[in-house]
Amino acid sequence: MAVQKVKEGIFSLRSNDWDRTLFDELIPLPDGTSYNAYVIMGKNKVTLVDTVDPRKTEELIQDIKALNLKKIDYIVSQHSEQDHSGSIPEILEMYPTAKVVTNKKGKEFLTELIKVPEDRFLVIDDMGTMDIGGKTLKFIFTPWVHWPETFSTYLAEDKILFTCDFFGAHIATNDLFVKDEGKVMEAAKRYYSEIMVPFRTSIRSNLQKIKDLDFEIIAPSHGCVYQNPKIIIDAYNDWSSENVKNVVVIPYLSMHGSIQKFVNHFIRKLQEKGIDARPFDVVTADIGNMAMALVDAATIVIASPTMLGGVHPKIAYAAYLTNLLRPKAKFASIIGSYDWGGREVDVLGELLKNLKVEMIKPVLIKGDGTEEDLKGIDDLAEQIYQKHRSINL
Ligand code: FEO
Repeated sequence: MAVQKVKEGIFSLRSNDWDRTLFDELIPLPDGTSYNAYVIMGKNKVTLVDTVDPRKTEELIQDIKALNLKKIDYIVSQHSEQDHSGSIPEILEMYPTAKVVTNKKGKEFLTELIKVPEDRFLVIDDMGTMDIGGKTLKFIFTPWVHWPETFSTYLAEDKILFTCDFFGAHIATNDLFVKDEGKVMEAAKRYYSEIMVPFRTSIRSNLQKIKDLDFEIIAPSHGCVYQNPKIIIDAYNDWSSENVKNVVVIPYLSMHGSIQKFVNHFIRKLQEKGIDARPFDVVTADIGNMAMALVDAATIVIASPTMLGGVHPKIAYAAYLTNLLRPKAKFASIIGSYDWGGREVDVLGELLKNLKVEMIKPVLIKGDGTEEDLKGIDDLAEQIYQKHRSINL
């Protein structure tokens, strides 16, 4: 899209991906996404911060041409993943004296991923600085947002923090700055929930590391620029904490209606106790919504019929994803149904073994179930209520 001015001498070169429907071929993108590069014009040197996804390289080149840049001295590559590094080879070709500024790990990755030649690198250290003429860049390593090499760049004179994936949001928009806070924060949570949940300890360290920097603007490499950074910092402090909310996430699937009947009953019982029940039919649900709900949930209850002696493959997929994400839930349980038997509980237990949860005794229902089974569901809801109370929810 058209080049947008962030501040004097600082420009956003954003490529909106309006029609991208999946990220990492996994999480649905109801609002698309964007890849943001930035140009910082120092008196002596011109710096490009990040590039864009390879499929958008032509747009980035158009933006660079629109700025009529005679030279680019530095390409600061804050993160080597291709949605930010993918256009580096073309930019290096356009500007044969440009250097790629990154850390040791980033150099290793960029060499392997996009074959940047050895002599095109300038390797920086944590907290290292670079004077580009009236503007000073300070590189602050913020690793394990989801890759180990990621860093942020603090532009002291303009009080801007460039953060790449950190604080990014999956949204394609013409708004340079955040206008619709609700929408952007949901898009940011979607991004956080997809890749950052397992790394929340590192996220907390990174938040500590930037805490005392004097910045007024956060400029991530996905989504909008924050002129009120507090909203996203507060959200990250909340999401990455180990505090949970009075929420039960229920990934479920029903083949012949009995699981649906018991899940409906379970939801009603939880609601009667003031618990926020979030069911996700894994056949039709936006799996990104489930991932977002997992960011805060105190409890996860997976409900599934037995299939071929194990669990339905679509439930196995949801359980596998949950296990990979390692959300901070404290409790878990299973509602299962079967006709001739099976190992559903064992299989699900194995699939969820990364979770640090207290398992509450599963409810297993034969066939269409009985009044006694409904009481088992009542009992499960009551146990969850008591467990939540025990942690002050
Ligand atoms: Fe936006 Fe980790 O790439």
